[in-house]
Order: sequence, then C-alpha cells, then structure tokens
Amino acid sequence: MARKPIIAGNWKLNCLKAEAEALAKGLVETVGTKSDVDVVLCPTFTSLDTVAKAICGTKIAMGAQDCYWQEKGAFTGEIAPSMLVDAGCKFCIIGHSERRQYFGETNETINKKAQALYAAGLTPIICVGETLQEREEGNMEKVITTQVRGCLAGLEAAKVAESVIAYEPVWAIGTGKTATKEQAQEVHALIRKTVADMFGDATAQAVRIQYGGSVKPDNAAELMAQPDIDGALVGGAALKADSFTAIINF
Ligand code: 13P
Repeated sequence: MARKPIIAGNWKLNCLKAEAEALAKGLVETVGTKSDVDVVLCPTFTSLDTVAKAICGTKIAMGAQDCYWQEKGAFTGEIAPSMLVDAGCKFCIIGHSERRQYFGETNETINKKAQALYAAGLTPIICVGETLQEREEGNMEKVITTQVRGCLAGLEAAKVAESVIAYEPVWAIGTGKTATKEQAQEVHALIRKTVADMFGDATAQAVRIQYGGSVKPDNAAELMAQPDIDGALVGGAALKADSFTAIINF
C-alpha cells in the first residue's frame, strides 16, 4: 500500500498573527491545491484562528504543537483536544524533543495525549528521537524502541495505523546537521519494525513516519526517496513560504 507523503511545518515559538497570516496565505498560493502530498501547518495556539481562516477552502491542514489530555477542568494554562478541533485543527504534534527536554514530557504523558487526541478525532504526530550522546554511546536502538513502545502502549491498532510518527534525531534539530539518508532510513525501518512487533504488519505498513531535523529544499528529495520515510517535519525552513514550498514540491 502506497503511503501518501505528509509534510508538516512546525513553526515552534515564532510568528505573530500578522506574520502567520502572511506565511499561510503565501503557502495557499503555492501549494493550496496540492493533493499528492498532505501539507500541515502547526502555528502557535494564538495564531490557530488566523491560520484556519487563511487556509479555509484549500487542501492545507492545520495542527497544534501540543495539547493536554484532559477535556476540561482546573488545569490552568492547558488546551484540550476538543478546543483544537474547535479551532480548526486536524493534527497535533506531541512529544517533541523540545517538550521532552524543557517541559518534562515523558512517554507516559505522550501516550495519554495520543489517547485524548484519538477520542477527539485528531491525528497525533508523535515525535521520537535520540540525543547525540545516546547515539555515540551505542544506545540509539534502545532509546528509539523504548520511546515508540512507551508512546504507543495500549493504543488501538486501527488508530495507530492512521497516526503519524516523526523521527527527529535531537542532534539534527536546528543544527544544520541532517541525518544522512542512510542513518534516517535505518531508524525509520526500526520504528516500523517496532510498530509491527506491537500491532502487526498491516498497521506498520499503514503508519506514516516523518523525518525531522534540518530538512531543507536541497536534502528533502533524497530523504523522501527512502522506502520508510513518508514525509518531513520541518522547523526553520517552514518559516519561509519559498523554502517550505520547495520542500513540499520535493
Ligand atoms: P529544524 O528543521 O529547524 O531542524 O527543526 C526540526 C524540528 O524540530 C521540527 O519539529
């Protein structure tokens, strides 16, 4: 079964509303009707409404960068999955390494968030990735399988099949150091095998696995050509319409 590529822009902590609107409108002009690649924009919470209006009626979808797993209540500062649906989201990134590193995200909290997103009808983009130290100490495989197993534990196979996993080696994020296509493919194959061990081959063949970490117009095509790379999660290069467009048109 051919998996449709999915390319998402993680805008991180960037863009005031006017900038978000200009960027989204620029992308509507260049890739708003593109149907052979799923395009997802992930602005900050405060720009969701602005971006939703800008992409309305186009093929471009929107995602959030995080959520909480409770639907309502005394959880000051948090955002519920149903609120993301209300704002126009179809996707939500969870477990980004920056959230693991700075905000205490764990495989357990990511697992709870995935379940809450499924319940609200949203698709999670579940991030995993090893640090440079973990790779250099020979622990990449253990770290990745532990993250995948922890994040996906107990989830329904049919939901996992529709989900997106993003492999983002921490050492390649924002550093200009991309994993080579061979390094990325090796880990993507490992992630797919781990999903197969947990949920069976059909689920593993269906789940889409994005690569993230210094994806640029000049390396997108060779990464996307790898058999287990089904898309990209793009940071810096997603903040300019021309470079993100070039990646989408890999
Ligand atoms: P860069 O593309 O800036 O390396 O960021 C990658 C990333 O973290 C996307 O989620």
